[in-house]
Amino acid sequence: MIIRIPKGTQDILPKDISKWYYVENKIREVLIKYGYQEIRTPIFEYTELFVRGVGDSSDIVTKEMFTFLDRKGRSLTLRPEGTAAVVRSYLENKMSRVYPVLKLFYLGPMFRCEKPQAGRFRQFHQFGIEVIGTKAPEVDAEVIIASIEVYKKLGLKNLKIMINSVGCKKCRAIYVQKLKESLKDKMDFLCLECKDRYNKNPLRILDCKKDSCQKVIKKMPTINEYLCQDCRQHFTEVKSYLDSLGIKYFIEPRLVRGLDYYTKTTFEIISGELGAQDAIGGGGRYDDLIEELGGDSTPAVGFAAGIERIIMVMNQQNIEWPKDKGLDIFIVKVKETNKDMAFKLLQKVRDAGLSADMDYSSKSLKSQMRLAHKIGAKYTLIVGEEELAKNMVTLRNMQTKEQKEVEMDNLIDELILCINST
Ligand code: HAM
Repeated sequence: MIIRIPKGTQDILPKDISKWYYVENKIREVLIKYGYQEIRTPIFEYTELFVRGVGDSSDIVTKEMFTFLDRKGRSLTLRPEGTAAVVRSYLENKMSRVYPVLKLFYLGPMFRCEKPQAGRFRQFHQFGIEVIGTKAPEVDAEVIIASIEVYKKLGLKNLKIMINSVGCKKCRAIYVQKLKESLKDKMDFLCLECKDRYNKNPLRILDCKKDSCQKVIKKMPTINEYLCQDCRQHFTEVKSYLDSLGIKYFIEPRLVRGLDYYTKTTFEIISGELGAQDAIGGGGRYDDLIEELGGDSTPAVGFAAGIERIIMVMNQQNIEWPKDKGLDIFIVKVKETNKDMAFKLLQKVRDAGLSADMDYSSKSLKSQMRLAHKIGAKYTLIVGEEELAKNMVTLRNMQTKEQKEVEMDNLIDELILCINST
């Protein structure tokens, strides 16, 4: 019996890899243009980082982490998200000494033990950005704008930006108190999970998707009414920077997001094409996280998006993918005795910067040609006794089926010319 792939994970097969290259290249292109530098942090970290960073009452920490002990009994966790690890690296590498304001981006797999469904996986990929060291509202707007530009460059349409402010520690505490008071006599209508959240993290009740809870939530006061002067002013400015560039957004006063570190701005980008898991990306400000992870008080803001979800929406919106480049040259040997020459030529072609391959088994000329066709080679180079005797090889255009003999001395120039003109 063959061993199957773990639940909630998927292979990215060669037939799809060019889509991933395309998306990843566009992400890098846009983010570098916005002044972000790439960072790569480990796939696993000490569990404590996420418990302290993401929050011990968040769904991620309470039920979704892949946690294990190493051989010395230390608890490690596969990263469920990128922000906490970026902050850990920022502090550990004392990056603030070099960059008072640091703009980073990352790309890579994340792991959450969630119930798999369309658009929700246990191993998925995110790209994310983090700006550490500034509380300027322009930066909140820039983070939203940069993420939107990535989507636009990929051709995505009909996305909606939802934004909110969840205030700071001070004003949020007043709101949470008010929320609890208002919920007190509605507890019977809340789901079991929300009853539990009431004591542990009442804000998370606002995020519950169950109809019964939604009915209650709709009648609850919203946080906007309780924002302090500083948070209100900040939110007004973020909106006005978005307005100044004509970016359309919707204010969603109940958008609290699933991670505990947010302060002030929160936002999500949603796509109607994704069904229940409609968030194609989300982020916000986290002005307290760096201090909570042992650094000096340092404001920060960021965003992350699910790459599988981006690709799903691109497929659903029938966005045209760039064509696969395919192999430039497939070398075909007429007889086994031509193998050594074919092997040498193969390296010569590769050294000239062209992609090339050959079949090392002793297949017939016909089946080598069939293979060249199957893998989409643009040209085949046929190495045979007769031509070699004249210091020549045969070059065949696999599309037009035209064939010509080329002198060995001019071969590379000729190949480059042919490939450049396809
Ligand atoms: P998040 O909202 O948890 O935020 O995840 C960001 C995006 O990752 C989601 O909008 C979704 O597109 C994708 N995603 C999340 N979970 C899954 C899953 N199980 N399967 C497929 N895609 C998924 C964060 O992770 C924050 N670190 C974002 C951030 C950065 N905030 C500030 N800086």
